[in-house]
Amino acid sequence: MSRGEEMKGSEQDRVREMRERERRIQQNLEQIRHRIVVFSGKGGVGKTTVAVNLSYVLVRKGYQVGLLDADITGPNVPKMIGLDGTFWSNGTQFRPLEKEGLKVVSIAPLVPKDSPVIWRGPLRSVALAQFLGDVIWGRLDFLVADLPPGTGDEVLTSAQKMHPEMAIVVTTPQEMSLIDCRRAVNMAKQLNIPKVGVVENMSGLRCPHCGAEIDLFGTGGGEIMAKQMGVILLGKVPIEVETRKGGDKGLPAVLFNPEGDAASAFFQIARRVTQLVLDKPVAKQHQ
Ligand SMILES: Nc1ncnc2c1ncn2[C@@H]1O[C@H](COP(=O)(O)OP(=O)(O)O)[C@@H](O)[C@H]1O
Ligand SMILES: [Mg+2]
Repeated sequence: MSRGEEMKGSEQDRVREMRERERRIQQNLEQIRHRIVVFSGKGGVGKTTVAVNLSYVLVRKGYQVGLLDADITGPNVPKMIGLDGTFWSNGTQFRPLEKEGLKVVSIAPLVPKDSPVIWRGPLRSVALAQFLGDVIWGRLDFLVADLPPGTGDEVLTSAQKMHPEMAIVVTTPQEMSLIDCRRAVNMAKQLNIPKVGVVENMSGLRCPHCGAEIDLFGTGGGEIMAKQMGVILLGKVPIEVETRKGGDKGLPAVLFNPEGDAASAFFQIARRVTQLVLDKPVAKQHQ
């Protein structure tokens, strides 16, 4: 076989593989009723915290839920829910891991701890396509994807391949985060994601000792921005020391500190999300 023929052959194999993956993605998506992407304009604003806590509230409501950690270079979901173990695989497909009734897929168990995932955009997009097509998700009511910050390749890939019906954009209340949040909201609109909601995270802080309000990042910025941009404010989550500690220890607030202020905001956010995707009227904001 000539070198030219060999190259043509491997090209054909790749195309076949891609088509087969597309077919499996379609097959998987047919079994998933509602698909939600969580993203933000910038990092560290609480995407993973929101994705994890929302997913667990949905599990507690009795839904079948999958959480896809689509942040390939900063895969924090396993750490935040205290998940370890490796995937079962038959060579081409693999099963999600499970923790407290939540099905989870992340790149983290596949790469050595502390080593950087230095992959360019196209490779990250292939990984995301594999998570959608090669994972045996089974029947799900909700698939929640925790995306990386910004408006890069993974956000595009997830919109093209996942066809999400809802985007949740997470922001903190200060102007520096809101600038980027506006970009993220506009991206969701441009990608024709039918429903867009905003979560204002790290919204106010109450001193755990004296109860005084501390205006760290401010409060209300996300709410005003949501109004201006004509998108829904899903809720405002306060800064809470227990929530940060729980994040570090793999103990999500809604499971391990359900009485806390942050958890009660997550319960409300989940209520609004389900109302929106199930097309029920959303209760008026009381905050
Ligand atoms: N409402 C909150 N109160 C206290 N800590 C929070 C809150 N939201 C997020 N955090 C903490 O802030 C850090 C960044 O949150 P994370 O969800 O990882 O952000 P992102 O996914 O956007 O990078 C984590 O340590 C997390 O535990
Ligand atoms: Mg994250």
